[in-house]
Amino acid sequence: MQLPGSFPLTRLRRNRMDGWSRALSAETRLAVQDLIWPIFLTAGEGQRDEVPSMPGVFRVSVDRVVAHVAEAVELGIPAVALFPYTPMEARDEEGTGALDPENLLCRAARALKAAYPALGLIGDVALDTHTTHGHDGVIRAGEVDNEATVSVLTRMAVLQAEAGVDCIAPSDMMDGRVGAIRRALDARGLVHTRIMSYAAKYASGFYAPFRDAVGSTVGANRLGPADKKTYQMDPANSDEALREVALDIAEGADMVMVKPGLPYLDVLHRVRREFGLPTFVYQVSGEYSMVMAAVRNGWLDHDRAMMEALMAFKRAGANGILTYFAVSAARLLRAG
Ligand code: PBG
Repeated sequence: MQLPGSFPLTRLRRNRMDGWSRALSAETRLAVQDLIWPIFLTAGEGQRDEVPSMPGVFRVSVDRVVAHVAEAVELGIPAVALFPYTPMEARDEEGTGALDPENLLCRAARALKAAYPALGLIGDVALDTHTTHGHDGVIRAGEVDNEATVSVLTRMAVLQAEAGVDCIAPSDMMDGRVGAIRRALDARGLVHTRIMSYAAKYASGFYAPFRDAVGSTVGANRLGPADKKTYQMDPANSDEALREVALDIAEGADMVMVKPGLPYLDVLHRVRREFGLPTFVYQVSGEYSMVMAAVRNGWLDHDRAMMEALMAFKRAGANGILTYFAVSAARLLRAG
């Protein structure tokens, strides 16, 4: 790009001098409509427990979920993403609880759809919240088995869609799962159920607080790998992210996601530029917890740190952001 102008005729500080000219010069805007709120579900009744490593984030029981999202709906947040904290007694090595129509996610989806028909419901499709070992799939011969996992995920997706989930979000990183899920949904006539694929999801250390929240910490276990590096991406790669996204689009993804957020802004930017389809970013639990920890120590200002990170995602090309800050940010945006 040819950049005309030179000092002193050109002074870039001029437009920065007043609020009105800064507002007119802003290249990027953040709106409530950009926000997706991830919420955690827990068993029992009347439960609302704060996640210890995520101050201000709660796990709620299904009977409280409608009240829990009331403010988000009121504020105009377009969609929520549902994640269950499945009790240990409901988990097994195969993650069969994922196929129980009475599981936390399906029950919450039915309740939310009935209460707020216009609220978008995004369902997490992966087995980590249902397995005892915390892996996103089923383990065969010491490895997370691709095809065996995909066949469970397709049934899980259909079940969620039938419970009222509008958008299936496979967060597992198995190869070929988007196409298999699309075909399974279509075969049931669920042709309008959207798929937001976790297309470029990295093997990240920033998921630790989430794994606390849903009880899915992976470690040394007798069955399979001690981490998720055999299916989640290597943080060193971004060309590979484009291949992941291209495959998911070819398989029928309606929206794609890059995850985590701030450490992968370059990937987000490339994906949006290259493909131009609705592109989302997940500001993950560790990103949230870092800000909150610094805020609690008096080292960062909550609102400034939050809004700056969210704006960075928009600037890099995100159409929308999954963020635990969704409600706080929406309040601030509404307050003007
Ligand atoms: C797993 C899943 C993870 C997150 C969303 N879905 C963690 C993982 O891959 O182990 C992380 C979200 C966050 O950290 O906020 N299917």
